[in-house]
Amino acid sequence: MPPGTTLPMPRLTPATAANFVLAQVDRAFALDPYPDYAVLREHAPICRQPDGSQVLTRYADIREVLADAERYSSDKRIDFRPRFGDSPLYEHHTTSIVFNDPPTHTRVRRLLAPFFAARVLRQMEGSIATMVDRLLDRAAERGRIDIVSEFALVIPLNLIGDLLGVPFDEREPLQAWAQQILGALEPVRTPAQLADGNRAVEEFKAYLRDLIARKRRAPPGSRDIDVLWALIEASEGGDGLTELEILHNSIFMLNAGHDTTGALIANGVDLLFRHPDQAQRLREQPSLVKPAIEEMLRYESPLQIGNRRSTVATRIGDVDVPAGTFLHLVLASANRDEREFPQAEVFDIARAPNRHVAFAHGIHTCAGNSVARIEAAIAFSKLVQRFPRMTQVEPTRRPERSRFRVVEELLVDLNP
Ligand code: HEM
Repeated sequence: MPPGTTLPMPRLTPATAANFVLAQVDRAFALDPYPDYAVLREHAPICRQPDGSQVLTRYADIREVLADAERYSSDKRIDFRPRFGDSPLYEHHTTSIVFNDPPTHTRVRRLLAPFFAARVLRQMEGSIATMVDRLLDRAAERGRIDIVSEFALVIPLNLIGDLLGVPFDEREPLQAWAQQILGALEPVRTPAQLADGNRAVEEFKAYLRDLIARKRRAPPGSRDIDVLWALIEASEGGDGLTELEILHNSIFMLNAGHDTTGALIANGVDLLFRHPDQAQRLREQPSLVKPAIEEMLRYESPLQIGNRRSTVATRIGDVDVPAGTFLHLVLASANRDEREFPQAEVFDIARAPNRHVAFAHGIHTCAGNSVARIEAAIAFSKLVQRFPRMTQVEPTRRPERSRFRVVEELLVDLNP
């Protein structure tokens, strides 16, 4: 065996559950982690890792941790120093809203909140609908498309592009930058992934600095939605974010809103192919689109794993957790927990109630959740009604990633 190669981990059994090591998961796990998560929930719901961290897989435990930002910190300075060293990735993650605690978190969230208000979202609905119509017109001409690259990722990319005021013809590199930065967060990653992530942060920052300089020379009109410009103006008034905070939180918004929403749409299409009865139900009852999206989020959660660190000695379930323990919160497993979701393995587009944690819970609940929900509702309403006979051409391809549940390629024939 070549040096550095690890043997693939066998699928878990009740007897081996306690030996599960998240940092060593293999390709089979990445492609279908749910059977292993089910074993963990039953037999090792708080599973100690060789580095002292704990993997949590039950809904109640995870919700309790997410709800308590005082005892469970999101500040990643301790954890990311050894992983990323003194690097662009370290600077990026530790400056982003999601990896900070109050009061920094509160300050940034308050400044971003106006962009996610109902009025702004209503304004966005029309432009999303027009964009989706255009994409589907183009797709209809081609007949056969890749749902991922030609539909699912294009919608959030353009939406975030609009939100940040990135000119249309400058959006192409955004997708690769987002993927490279997020790829470096995987539990298992190569030195090349790390180098790509660092380079992407630097290139992205340089691009945004240039964009800000151009906006300063020609400020956008007051009716345009432009988060980047609003953040710059607020910073000039003295009570806003620093330039570095603006750069990193803009990068974070793109990353947070792009891959995840693309994954929601692509996973959703995949789920409808895997459950033709539910696809038929959605075609017959278009009003089910909203609960259908909640069920897609629950069943294939785009962000599968979140993290926290205990700030004090605490007890989770029947396990004592010392202060300073790093916690892996498997949101994807919580969302399949029978204790919360009856017949959790059944994909039911009318499921109610559906209190999933795909957008987390507590003070860090996804700030863009309404945006993602609107994008997905418009995308599915139009896709399903316009192409009722759409079929899958080849099996869905997924990359080897376990923190994010994304689709690599999903080829469909729209009018077979
Ligand atoms: C289906 C799509 C999406 C999913 C599944 C998702 C998921 C999440 C999750 C789980 C968190 C919390 C992470 C944690 O606490 O550790 C989060 C935070 C966040 N998300 Fe999303 N997200 C999505 C789309 C979006 C979009 C479209 C935007 C912006 C336009 C966005 C912006 C944010 C922001 C700013 C935060 C940080 C909130 C905070 O720390 O207070 N997300 N997201």
